[in-house]
Amino acid sequence: MEVHEYTIRRVPKSGIVTLGLFACTHIGHAGIDYDHLQQEIDFIADKPLSRWIHLGDSGEYITADDKRWEIGSLDPAFRVSDHVDLQVDRGVEIFRPIKSKGLGIIIGNHEDSYLKHTQSNPAKRLAQGLQIPFLGYTCLIRLRIESRNGDVWRPVIYAMHGDTHATTPAGQLNYLKVKSNPFACQVAVMAHVHMKSAYNNEVILAMNEAGDDVEATSRHYAIAGTFQKTYYTRGDGNASYAEKKHYAPSAIGCSSVEFHLADRLIRAKDYLS
Ligand SMILES: [Fe+2]
Repeated sequence: MEVHEYTIRRVPKSGIVTLGLFACTHIGHAGIDYDHLQQEIDFIADKPLSRWIHLGDSGEYITADDKRWEIGSLDPAFRVSDHVDLQVDRGVEIFRPIKSKGLGIIIGNHEDSYLKHTQSNPAKRLAQGLQIPFLGYTCLIRLRIESRNGDVWRPVIYAMHGDTHATTPAGQLNYLKVKSNPFACQVAVMAHVHMKSAYNNEVILAMNEAGDDVEATSRHYAIAGTFQKTYYTRGDGNASYAEKKHYAPSAIGCSSVEFHLADRLIRAKDYLS
């Protein structure tokens, strides 16, 4: 696994740092909602205290030797022999306006299966193209939120793409809770399921510093959505593997996590903009 510390300086004492959770952008797929993706990117670009992370499946990255391969599910502009390179390049182009606010890129299962076939890692190439860290499969990220008066708040985030087949919100959240449980963190985030959800204030009790009482801390969970529509009309009769398996319609957009400096409150949210 990876660890990463990321500092945000000179935050006003009532400042709210927002972390946008991009995931499953599947660039290259024919059903991508680029307008919604641009809306989320503009939100990050416009808010000085906003940051972002990509939780994997940044491109479609499926090649002809993969059982999910379906040339009809690729956007016509990507039906070329080097479509994976093109997907990485497009990802760099899309995220370039907010690259200075990026914590890093996590690898998803689409990058991983391409890596197994080719020894080339599109998630790492995207991170290198944006000059931001590649954060591997699982990562503990410590945010150092520094206020103007010198106070420092250091919440820890556990981040992964995830690999569950759970189809219900309760099953997906339970998977995230179980997998993040061994890690000391205030926030746990994942993607993969193409559904958005947030769960706040799981209370964890610990003994206080003075040794005379119990003290409550809390943990917060967010699951990121996707930008790939499961069902969309193109008029040519083609369907993606997701439609053929009759998957539930995806939840489009980012989830996010807010860090309120004034009262050191954390809030996981199932939307960004
Ligand atoms: Fe995905």
